Amino acid sequence: MNAVRIYPNSESLAVAAADFIAELAAKSIAARGMFSIALSGGSTPRALYGVLAARADQIEWSRWHCFWGDERCVPPDHEDSCYRMARETLLDHVSVSAVNVHRIRCELSPSEAAHSYEQELRAFFAGEWPRFDLILLGMGEDGHTASLFPNTPALDVHDAWVTANIAPSVKQPNRITLTIPAINAAANALFLVSGSSKAAPLHQVIDGPRSPRQLPAQFIQPAAGSLIWMIDQPAAALLESKR
Ligand code: 6PG
Repeated sequence: MNAVRIYPNSESLAVAAADFIAELAAKSIAARGMFSIALSGGSTPRALYGVLAARADQIEWSRWHCFWGDERCVPPDHEDSCYRMARETLLDHVSVSAVNVHRIRCELSPSEAAHSYEQELRAFFAGEWPRFDLILLGMGEDGHTASLFPNTPALDVHDAWVTANIAPSVKQPNRITLTIPAINAAANALFLVSGSSKAAPLHQVIDGPRSPRQLPAQFIQPAAGSLIWMIDQPAAALLESKR
């Protein structure tokens, strides 16, 4: 099932995403006793994490297993750390068990961090690929997602779950990211896209010709799962067919 859902503004987008995630978590927990989510970095998820944190007593946090879709190669207390952002806006406010927070250990070298994270994922997920209940994704203005940047080596890694990558022209170029096949093994991939600066790239990704090496978000299509785009109106302004 693929879906594109549009909301008036970033606040209603965050609430709708929190509702979706809370419902999915409840279903996953009812079915299998746990909920596995790969969190995203960047600025867009901050509002979502704040809404989820405000529901501390409404969600069965002890059944959650939190991972990350990618990480910058900085220490966990660095201002650019995806882990730090999620800890400050969400994890410090809810009762996810510390042993169920599976951060990417970027105090190691990039290759060691990628290997260590892949080993942790393989210990958690049985099978050939990790089947997250949900992978939360953002999209950059260049069409990247996670740390899968246009025309970078990570786009060609298909035999590993995790890889190091280089992010061009950003503050923290060394990254660790889930690979395309690892993301596409998920049960649900949820893009959260907000703001007018994303309107043009989003139009290219969703409506434009297929050019995934230039627009890596186009690589994302769970093989046996759902792809959901949750977008605010400013980001959706150029989409051809309004949903
Ligand atoms: C990261 C994210 C990255 C992010 C996009 C969008 O580590 O930064 O994984 O892929 O989702 O760059 O970022 P914004 O939400 O800040 O626009």
